[in-house]
Amino acid sequence: MFFAWKDEYSVGIDAIDLQHRLLIIMINDLYVAIHENRSTEAIPEMLSRLHHYIQEHFSAEKRLMEEYDYPGLRDHLQEHDDMVEKVAELAAKYASGRVGGLAELVIYLRGWLDNHICRTDKLMALSLVEQGVQSQFC
Ligand SMILES: [Fe+2]
Ligand SMILES: [Fe+2]
Repeated sequence: MFFAWKDEYSVGIDAIDLQHRLLIIMINDLYVAIHENRSTEAIPEMLSRLHHYIQEHFSAEKRLMEEYDYPGLRDHLQEHDDMVEKVAELAAKYASGRVGGLAELVIYLRGWLDNHICRTDKLMALSLVEQGVQSQFC
């Protein structure tokens, strides 16, 4: 499998873990679609769904960090913004006809998510859990 969930990805907040699991599934599905040479209609649709879900997930984390006055909020949001920018850049590469842009995109997403969950999201979750965050706030 190109990108699989690992137990070490768990941050200790169920709703966030669930969102990360879905993101990983979507990235994996996109990888499979690329390798199966799926139709040119299917891939943009998958990209668009992934893009929306990334926004939804980032908004959920932002709401939590704001609600709990998380001190690392600014740096965390900067990482999210940098990722969105890079994804837009690679998606544009693909849209302009460069097929390699898509492979670059899924590899980038896997690496970014692996690193961001294990480092930045875990730090955030540690602080939120200490403050008694409940899963229903996500
Ligand atoms: Fe996250
Ligand atoms: Fe995050």
